[in-house]
Amino acid sequence: MILCSCNRLSTSRVRAVLERQCQTDPYSLVTPGRLFAMTGNRMQCGRCARLVNEVIAKELRQIQGALPETSRPRKERPHER
Ligand code: FES
Repeated sequence: MILCSCNRLSTSRVRAVLERQCQTDPYSLVTPGRLFAMTGNRMQCGRCARLVNEVIAKELRQIQGALPETSRPRKERPHER
């Protein structure tokens, strides 16, 4: 599915980029702007930002859930703030 018509960015491309990113740094924070930079593009009209953000969150949950326990980002506990 095409998420961004300006850059022809698809869900599968987003997932591939996020999988590669999680292999090198499973703790990284990925924003739509950063994702576009990682794909060699930049946001243009911005209409896709909300959808891209939702797909990033969904894909990261799936990818990080499949990582070995030791590689997963640890959930923050209230007393650690
Ligand atoms: S639809 Fe994504 S920047 Fe325009």
